[in-house]
This record gives sequence, structure tokens and C-alpha cells, in this order.
Amino acid sequence: MISYSFFNQKKSTSSFNKFLFSTISNYKQIIYYQHGDPRKVLKFEEGNEEIKKELKPNEILIKMKMAPINPADLNQIEGVYPLKPKLPAIGGNEGIGEVIEIGKDVKNQNLFKIGDYVIPTRPAIGTWRTHLKINYEKAVKISSKIDPVILSNMGLVRTAMKLITGFESLNKGDFLVQNAANSAVGQSVIQIAKFYGFKTINFIRYKNANLYNETKNYLESIGADFVSNDIELKDIKNFRKKFNQEWGFKNQKKPKLFLNCVGDFWVDLIAKILGNDSSIVTYGGMARGSKVSISPSKLIFQNFKLFGFWLSQWLNTHSNDQIISLNSLCQDMLHQVDFKIKTQVVSFNDFYLALDKNFKNEPNRGKIVLKMD
Ligand SMILES: NC(=O)c1ccc[n+]([C@@H]2O[C@H](COP(=O)([O-])OP(=O)(O)OC[C@H]3O[C@@H](n4cnc5c(N)ncnc54)[C@H](OP(=O)(O)O)[C@@H]3O)[C@@H](O)[C@H]2O)c1
Repeated sequence: MISYSFFNQKKSTSSFNKFLFSTISNYKQIIYYQHGDPRKVLKFEEGNEEIKKELKPNEILIKMKMAPINPADLNQIEGVYPLKPKLPAIGGNEGIGEVIEIGKDVKNQNLFKIGDYVIPTRPAIGTWRTHLKINYEKAVKISSKIDPVILSNMGLVRTAMKLITGFESLNKGDFLVQNAANSAVGQSVIQIAKFYGFKTINFIRYKNANLYNETKNYLESIGADFVSNDIELKDIKNFRKKFNQEWGFKNQKKPKLFLNCVGDFWVDLIAKILGNDSSIVTYGGMARGSKVSISPSKLIFQNFKLFGFWLSQWLNTHSNDQIISLNSLCQDMLHQVDFKIKTQVVSFNDFYLALDKNFKNEPNRGKIVLKMD
């Protein structure tokens, strides 16, 4: 097995030759044997005895095409994520692949055909590899008419879909609010909301005027109705004036859904512009260590409801049929929308470069997606 590490990328060729003539001669994987800083513990390895073994009757062999590097993947490797696969583990939870071999029973039931695009049904499957051999129930077919870059990020699209449709029944023209609106989930929220005729108020972090304007223009180009930032929000008195007068909320229904990806000061401040009976759904904690805090009066007198959402939990507690139905909802939308998620596609062979990009706080760098083929 060839093993590379981020800090010591020395190649060992000891047992490479014996894999060269196998069916899958070019198998590669990103594996970790212990938790820790991903740049230190992740190893790029070539060759794997297991993948060469004959398929079990209920298995399919998938050639991975693309897989993103998500914040949760890195947290999982660090060992600070609730989902902890048994070690050693292969990185990556999301991704898109193509079926290249089918086990006997799966073939008999006509469940998959060669060339089908599939995504994993369950989390922590380990998508950062060139080939994946799994029980057929752990993958579902997905339309090959959709851009594979978007399909590799279906977890984010499905999260956004559940956040928008799972907590409040919004009507056309209703507003929702979100922070970290430039995140991949945030971009998905904007486009799904627009697809259904809902409107969005989007907050991002202000870094400098150029960057802010660039991001604001981009978010508006994909359908954001209003965009603002933390500096404006913290000046709540003036922000409220803008909200009521410039944005017209004095005379229209206030937002009733707030999708919180951060925590910290955002929750209490954004709560000030929500209507009665609103739902606040927390799905991310980007400001690590911060709390979700809100004035008691919002809960007592305005009947706010606080929720959390975790797609991994949802996937683990729902049947394949329910998962397929969520996928269909997303697919139908993706067939009709010129859906965009800011991404940088990096060759799988350049994994360490991709990882490095993830840790560099390059503004507006977009989601890093690994390309396997
Ligand atoms: N619950 C679920 O089921 C679920 C599913 C998918 C994702 N998530 C979570 O959702 C979050 C976003 O995921 P993603 O893949 O969309 O992320 P992403 O594209 O990598 O974007 C990260 C976002 O977080 C913002 N951010 C980072 N640190 C921040 C801080 N200290 N304060 C405020 N904003 C901060 C970034 O803003 P800047 O551009 O200003 O840096 C950016 O908007 C992550 O926490 C992820 O784990 C949850």
C-alpha cells in the first residue's frame, strides 16, 4: 500500500506492483487511523485488497466521480463530530458515483444498471475514494441530467430543502431569514426559496467593501431578495429603520422562519425582526463554542419555537423510500432551476492541495469538490 501524508509526502512503493494488473488497478483512498488535525492524520493511499474481492450478491461497485470537502467531514476527522465511524475510516460523507458492477441478487431484482448515477443514502460511508463497494441499500439512483458538481453536494441541497419545507408552512411571498447566506447551504436556501416563491433576507459577514459587494451581487444574482451584514445588524436601531422603511416591512408580514447556521449574537438580533409564532431552526454552529441565546420574552409573548436539524440523523432514522422521496423533491427542483453553488473542483490526486485550500481562509473560495475521474 502506498501511503502519503500531508507533512511527509514521501512515496513507498513496497507493494504497489501487485495491484497494477487487478480489475481496479488505480484504487485510491483518503484514510485516517486516528482523530486529529486532518492535515496531519489523513493519508492518501493507493491499493486496497478488499476492493478487489468479488462482489457479494447484495453489493454494487461504484466508481466515485466527485465528493466535496464539507466542514462536517473535517469535524468528523478531528473527532469533535457526534458521528464517529470506526477507525480506521475513510473520509467524506457526500459524493456522486457511477455504478460499474452489480451483485447477483441486485441484478436479479433489476434495482440498478451499469452507468446509473448514485449518491449514498447514509452518512459516514467514506466517499473520498475512487471506488466504493457497498450494500445496494446504502445508495440511491439520482438523475444523470443534473450537473455532477451539484449532485456531489446533494446533502447540502437536501438540508436546505428540509429547512425550508420541514418547519413552517410558508406561502408564496412569505419571507425567511438566514445567516451565513454565502455558505453552500445558504446559496441552496436562496434558490430553493425562490423556486417556491418564498422571499429571503440574507446576512453575511462584512470583511471589506469590495468583498461584501461582490458577495451581495452574487447572492442577488441567484435570487436573494435582500442582503445585509453583521455590522448593519449590530446597529439594530438603524437596521430596524431600514427593515421597516427601505425594505417595506412596516406594511408587510414579517419573516416567520429563521435558519441559523452560526449562533452567537446573530440569534438574539435577528429575532428582533421576526413576526410572532416564528420558528428558529439551528442547523450549524459556525461560531464554534458560541450559544444560541434569545430573550425569554420572544418565547413567552411572541411564541417563538426553537428547533435543531441534522440531516445525518434524519437519514439514519428514515426509510429508503422517504429518502428517495426527498431526493425526488430536490431532483424535480434541480431539473427546473439553473442551480449554482460556488465551487472549486480539484483533482483527487491533488487531495492535499484541496485540503490546504480548505484551511486557508481565502474569501469567496467556494466549496472544494474533489474530482475522481
Ligand atoms: N445540520 C445539518 O444537517 C447540516 C447539513 C449540512 C451542513 N451543515 C452545517 O452548515 C454549516 C454550513 O455548511 P456549508 O457546507 O454550507 O459551509 P460552507 O459552504 O463551507 O460555508 C461556511 C459558512 O460559514 C460562515 N462562517 C464561518 N465561520 C463563521 C463565524 N465564526 N461566524 C459567522 N459565519 C461563519 C462562512 O462565512 P464567511 O464566508 O464569512 O467565512 C460561510 O458562510 C456548517 O456548520 C455545516 O456543518 C449542517
